[in-house]
Amino acid sequence: MASGSSLAGRVAIVTGASSGIGKATGIALAKAGVKVALAARRKDKLQEVAKQISENGGVSICVETDVTKRDQIKALVQETITKLGPVDILVNNAGLWYYSLMQNQLEDLWEEQIDVNIKGLTNCAAAVLDGMIKQRSGHIVNMSSDSGKKLSIHIFFLCHTFNTKSCWSLLSSS
Ligand SMILES: NC(=O)c1ccc[n+]([C@@H]2O[C@H](COP(=O)([O-])OP(=O)(O)OC[C@H]3O[C@@H](n4cnc5c(N)ncnc54)[C@H](OP(=O)(O)O)[C@@H]3O)[C@@H](O)[C@H]2O)c1
Repeated sequence: MASGSSLAGRVAIVTGASSGIGKATGIALAKAGVKVALAARRKDKLQEVAKQISENGGVSICVETDVTKRDQIKALVQETITKLGPVDILVNNAGLWYYSLMQNQLEDLWEEQIDVNIKGLTNCAAAVLDGMIKQRSGHIVNMSSDSGKKLSIHIFFLCHTFNTKSCWSLLSSS
């Protein structure tokens, strides 16, 4: 473990840590000495990531969380504080996308993308904000996409949610 890293000893929450970018981010942070709360809906997948982290000497906990449910996010933050300490970093990574033309009218899928990509991201940021303001430090990283900058008709709705995510990133860094 990189104990000389400036991140060593910090506490991070990574949402969508059960696969892909979130999984890789959780593992990389743990390698840098960060204590990581791994959050997503599939607990079995989170446990596989946690096993990999502990085999490398890192520290993590798994918290089954649906980012569309505010009570579950509050419980995630509380469990993280209790078991690992105050939250220094939130990696707002949980997200999903569907490829479909607007004319296919898949309203349920549009709503799901809004719920996860926009409301989920907002819910998670809101849940850590109080603590970060009190401790006068903290970082929120919002995983967005180039799709938020360049419109494609096949993923119009996705572009819309990523555009909002990009605005959030600007807000978080200001
Ligand atoms: N890969 C790319 O090329 C790419 C490009 C642009 C943007 N992105 C963005 O980068 C992020 C990660 O993408 P990825 O490629 O790594 O995707 P991925 O492998 O599909 O991972 C998505 C993660 O989000 C989690 N998730 C989905 N819905 C959730 C919910 N309601 N509550 C909690 N967790 C939820 C999933 O976990 P569970 O299913 O276990 O809940 C999973 O861990 C996303 O925000 C994505 O939009 C990726």
